[in-house]
Amino acid sequence: MRIENRMQLQLWREECKEKRQKENCCILVCGGTGCLAGGSDKIYARLKELTSNMDHVTVKIGEEIAHVGLKMSGCHGFCEMGPLVRIEPYNYLYLKVKLEDCEEIFEKTILHGEPVTRLMYEDNGHVYQTQEEIPFYAKQTRLVLRNCGHIDAEHIEDAMAVGAYESFEKAVFEMTPEAVIKTVTDAGLRGRGGAGFPAGRKWSQVASQPEKIRYVVCNGDEGDPGAFMDRSVMEGDPHRMIEGMMLAAYAVQAQEGYIYVRAEYPLAVRRLQIAIAQAEEKGLLGDNILGTGFSFKLHINRGAGAFVCGEGSALTASIEGKRGMPRVKPPRTVEQGLWEKPTVLNNVETYANIPMIIKNGADWYSRIGTPQSPGTKAFALTGNVKNTGLIEVPMGISLREIIFDIGGGIKDDKGFKQFRSVVHPVDVW
Ligand SMILES: Cc1cc2nc3c(=O)[nH]c(=O)nc-3n(C[C@H](O)[C@H](O)[C@H](O)COP(=O)(O)O)c2cc1C
Ligand code: FES
Repeated sequence: MRIENRMQLQLWREECKEKRQKENCCILVCGGTGCLAGGSDKIYARLKELTSNMDHVTVKIGEEIAHVGLKMSGCHGFCEMGPLVRIEPYNYLYLKVKLEDCEEIFEKTILHGEPVTRLMYEDNGHVYQTQEEIPFYAKQTRLVLRNCGHIDAEHIEDAMAVGAYESFEKAVFEMTPEAVIKTVTDAGLRGRGGAGFPAGRKWSQVASQPEKIRYVVCNGDEGDPGAFMDRSVMEGDPHRMIEGMMLAAYAVQAQEGYIYVRAEYPLAVRRLQIAIAQAEEKGLLGDNILGTGFSFKLHINRGAGAFVCGEGSALTASIEGKRGMPRVKPPRTVEQGLWEKPTVLNNVETYANIPMIIKNGADWYSRIGTPQSPGTKAFALTGNVKNTGLIEVPMGISLREIIFDIGGGIKDDKGFKQFRSVVHPVDVW
């Protein structure tokens, strides 16, 4: 059913929340690219078989009757330990799960609430019972990645239940476009694509152009070797990023947007396609959204696999069907970007920050991280550290904390020699 107004949206959100709360015993099988490669789809299928063979899809947790839910989530972050399975409400995290472990997980944990300790994270003889206790997670600040690993990215209802489109609702019904730009500016959010340009300033430059046809573009090219932060957001919580783009579109009054994703990310493309189709069906994308008169259409463009297409002007050229080559500036993208129209071009993670800024306010956001660069940053932690995967930390954290506290130190307890960070060149053109 298409949502026509604010009241219908709120009613629907309540329904989604109720549905999610009912499934108070939830099995979350990681459906991120890494765990899928390790066979998590087969684990999901086996657990589905086991749970659907139950007489009632309910179990007892203490004195409470719990409904059992099974979901394929996005990346949980601890990819090296995949395939991962998380079981709520106990918050047990099972690592390196094999097909033959499914029966034991079902018998012990689902039916009786008991942990399968041999599948839990262990360090120096200590077994970590919950995901949140594991040092790899305990030292992180997961805001952008909060829902990754916790929701089923292929069902908009699950995203709605944890707050998707609340910020967009707030913006279109309670804020002017100028107020949205001011909030993003005051929050101090800097672009996460590499150059660190203040997002609010970019948006206000687009909003001040005399040309009224404007575009919003998302850079999901993610060419840096070893990086998969953007992929994980697109795969695990696509509605967060789409909502960020919708807020940008409302702020600069753009009617069309493009997501440029590298073609090597087929799962991200598929989850985005599903998310867009579901948002369109509900009337959250398209014409006259929620009866406000604001319209926004979203398209996906698959990149051609060239690193240089991640550069803003090469990317817009590529969307236009031209050869992906950076061009001399000025004119800048904010003045003449896609189809030579004023364009907001931001990175996936930048957009994914926007909904929580609008929801919680600029003051809240600017208190995280450093005064010069508020907020958090997601990193793909790889190399000779013990625990590798996808992490999110406040800006300003030390490398020591990342390598030793989160990464668990150097493999085989070797000494620290050298740090190699892969950062692409900033925009020099
Ligand atoms: C050679 C080159 C490659 C780039 N690749 C990417 C990329 O893969 N993803 C990205 O978001 N930004 C990339 N950038 C930066 C973009 O040009 C642009 O600054 C950024 O997408 C703007 O978004 P932001 O302000 O949100 O960071 C690249 C820049 C250069 C010079
Ligand atoms: S893909 Fe499963 S934890 Fe990252």
